Amino acid sequence: NTSPRMRTVLSALIQHVHDFAREVNLTTDEWLAGVDMINWAGRMSNERRNEGQLLCDVIGLESLVDDITYREASKADKPPTSSAILGPFWRADAPVRENGSTITFNTPKDGQVAYMHGQVTCAETGKPLANASVDVWQASTNGLYEQQDPDQIDCNLRGKFITDAEGRYSFYCLRPTPYPIPFDGPAGKLLKLMDRHEYRPAHIHLIVEAEGYGSLTTQIFDKDSKYLEDDSVFAVKHGLTVEFKPREGDAQAQWDLEYDVKLAKKN
Ligand code: DHB
Ligand code: FE
Repeated sequence: NTSPRMRTVLSALIQHVHDFAREVNLTTDEWLAGVDMINWAGRMSNERRNEGQLLCDVIGLESLVDDITYREASKADKPPTSSAILGPFWRADAPVRENGSTITFNTPKDGQVAYMHGQVTCAETGKPLANASVDVWQASTNGLYEQQDPDQIDCNLRGKFITDAEGRYSFYCLRPTPYPIPFDGPAGKLLKLMDRHEYRPAHIHLIVEAEGYGSLTTQIFDKDSKYLEDDSVFAVKHGLTVEFKPREGDAQAQWDLEYDVKLAKKN
């Protein structure tokens, strides 16, 4: 049975697609080129490659949906940490790792290690949240996530950390570097047609969850990175840029990143 919501969404979608075709006097060839692109995306997609999502991302749709989703939370007196898009490379089965351990197992020669740590708190009260889970993932310096790269061990550069009694988490990771989204398919072709590049600024992905609180999906961006102003998938937001500081007296890491997360209480 079709829900009222489904009727609303479908009728608006069809109305706007028709309006678009009328507005540009869409030709048969142009419409068929669009069909080819959708079919190409379907042929390219598998468990490791989500080309449909990539197509949506380069036209800013995932980012817009994220803005719409965060809009309510951002109105609070003391708003939670800003969300950002999930992107196509999250894995549901990342292992839980010990605080203070590492997610970089195949550290590349040009890789710089950072110690990332911080506290998860309640946005409203500031209370530390113990037993929160901090799920992180990042690409290596070659621009590839482990599932795209046969040279990285399984679950390299990803892991889940559980906050301690003071709400704290910590781990070693790579200082992230800018890289291109996969551009050998229709998303890359679309970028070329729009005269845009395929690069994303250096970032680390996070999903932070605690019982009784809204789940937060976000990304943090190195404030010194290139492409902050022209991210190919429009994910950069004010308030999500972070500063890597030189780390003294730690043979394991040359950079220090402190990053606290505030979660919104569920009503
Ligand atoms: C996209 C997001 C990412 O974080 C990434 O690494 C590659 C692509 C995306 O939104 O399509
Ligand atoms: Fe990413």
